[in-house]
Amino acid sequence: MNNNINNGIIKEMYKKAIKARKNAYTPYSDFKVGSALLTEQGKIFTGSNVENVSYGLSNCAERTAIFTAVTNGYRKFKALLITADTVQPIVPCGSCRQVIKEFGENTKIIMTNVNGDFKEKMVNELLPDSFKMS
Ligand code: THU
Repeated sequence: MNNNINNGIIKEMYKKAIKARKNAYTPYSDFKVGSALLTEQGKIFTGSNVENVSYGLSNCAERTAIFTAVTNGYRKFKALLITADTVQPIVPCGSCRQVIKEFGENTKIIMTNVNGDFKEKMVNELLPDSFKMS
């Protein structure tokens, strides 16, 4: 899969993630995260974190986007962009890394913050040598 994504698409993903972040439901942490997931076909799905009074049931923004895409019939992803109000670009949690990797070893993770700082890594770099059943 070709992982080169043009800047226009990355800008569009960033705008959509910023917008999705506004819908994050975070009464417990007050920490809002937005995401935008680019499919191989060029479609963009968004996500935000959705918390629960039973804290462990909270869902991260990354997984919200992935589960929405899968529900809509998309399973191949070029890139996942995430954003939050952090000093450094936000990095995905371990659980989300595992879920991203479920759908491909070469998904690009674009980590950003609301100030417009960007950093990129492939999911394989963030989660090398991960669990397999074979
Ligand atoms: N969160 C995400 O949405 N993505 C991450 O990668 C890390 C954490 C959410 C979960 C929870 O709602 C809040 O941020 C604080 O942990």
